[in-house]
Amino acid sequence: MTRGASSPYLKRRGSPLLIAHTLDSSLMDVAAGKQKISRDLVVGLDTPVPVVGGGKKRYINLDNAASTPTLQPILDAVNRFLPWYSNVHRGTGFKSKLSSWAFDQARERIVEFVNADATHQVVLFSRNTTEAVNHLAHRFPFKKSGIVMTTVMEHHSNELPWRKVAKVVHVGVLDDGRIDEEDLQQKLHEYKGRVQLLAVTGASNVTGYINPVHTYARWAHDVGAKIFVDAAQLAPHRPIDMKRHGEPEHFDYLAFSAHKMYAPFGLGVLVGERKTFEQGDPDMVGGGTVDIVSLEEAYWADLPDKEEAGTPDIVGAVALGAAIRLLEEIGWEAIIEHEAELTMHALEKLAAIPGVQIYGDKNPATAYDRLGVISFGVRDLPHALVAAVLSSEWAIGTRNGCFCAHPYVKCLMHVSEKEAREMETKILNRDRSVLPGTVRASFGIYNTIEDVETLCEAVGAIARGEYRKDYVLNVERGEYHRLDMNDHFNEYFDF
Ligand SMILES: Cc1ncc(COP(=O)(O)O)c(C=O)c1O
Repeated sequence: MTRGASSPYLKRRGSPLLIAHTLDSSLMDVAAGKQKISRDLVVGLDTPVPVVGGGKKRYINLDNAASTPTLQPILDAVNRFLPWYSNVHRGTGFKSKLSSWAFDQARERIVEFVNADATHQVVLFSRNTTEAVNHLAHRFPFKKSGIVMTTVMEHHSNELPWRKVAKVVHVGVLDDGRIDEEDLQQKLHEYKGRVQLLAVTGASNVTGYINPVHTYARWAHDVGAKIFVDAAQLAPHRPIDMKRHGEPEHFDYLAFSAHKMYAPFGLGVLVGERKTFEQGDPDMVGGGTVDIVSLEEAYWADLPDKEEAGTPDIVGAVALGAAIRLLEEIGWEAIIEHEAELTMHALEKLAAIPGVQIYGDKNPATAYDRLGVISFGVRDLPHALVAAVLSSEWAIGTRNGCFCAHPYVKCLMHVSEKEAREMETKILNRDRSVLPGTVRASFGIYNTIEDVETLCEAVGAIARGEYRKDYVLNVERGEYHRLDMNDHFNEYFDF
């Protein structure tokens, strides 16, 4: 496994990092004395998209925290695989055997990617992180009064599934949006004996904070709880080490999604303790999950088959296997270095624009310790309007709103309980325009300083009031549109 400093592709010549020429030159470009991830690698990168006034501009994708575009070597691997594609397991034809082999190889690659403890843990495929969390929630052996401890920072996917199966206790966040670690420790001790699981994100999809999850693992294990790490945001940007089963800082469970890792062909991953899934009946049953069935009985197959009902996403697994190989070839140091550089630049430039407020850590010096996910607002302009202007006038793809983390964004924006209740009433009455929120720019390995410069130029113009004033608000959707821009999508893509 290629991990950070040990990457054979990297050498340090002072700072910043230079990527050694051993790396396949097709992956890298030389730019301003430094090698960068080649932009040719990104499928559809420079696609022109329509903007206000009838023209077109090069699309700048700054919405990587939602989903990343695919990279050419991953698409190539999928295309190389497709002629061999067949259903997996138990097929006797050559293609079925080859497909089964590729599918199993992908699973092994994931074990190595997160350094899972293969004797104690199993990799289970799902559609995405959300399904993986739901899977674990339904299979975790909760006692009657068992507690899941989670935090206010979480994405809804690491909160709502737990509510259905256990009592949930929330750990608060500090004023700057970081997890309140005193509160975490205090609550772990307060609920000692009852707290069975700490479910926490590896990194925030709103502020880009990276949590010290190994330390949290130790704290959880100290009180007899297990830990689940939501690695949906972490996995594309940092190496993950689940550690050996007996180590105090190991992760018991982990989930992530391929579509955030340049492999948008489906597939989510749940890595978890075998014994959790060995006991009891699978949550979803059907083909593939059984050894033998009579009209009265069903005898479950061994893991992972027992937990993966129906035909799996074989192409998705191949794509994720290829994505893992590519990320490791590029090397974590190069990824971290590059994304930190973008983040640093964006924080410096955005903070200098009068009227722009950045939520969370604003300090460019900490760019290496966080993800390139920046949430911001512009004066008192609605977040939906700012995002609409960025898209319609500048061809910049961002995202706005609460990013499936409503409680967290409300905390960051200091929305009072009273305001929150009033908003709820309006939203339930179909007025989503009152939803609080920010605009989020999130970077991937292929974004450039020029992309950041264009974002900052655009945000600067918006902050100065330099944007068209005839956007129309759709109250029910909480979105701003331009009546002069018709989205004839079938002119761009058709089946
Ligand atoms: C931190 C975090 N957890 C979970 C999810 C859910 O991932 P998915 O939509 O792939 O299920 C996301 C998606 O943005 C996320 O950012």
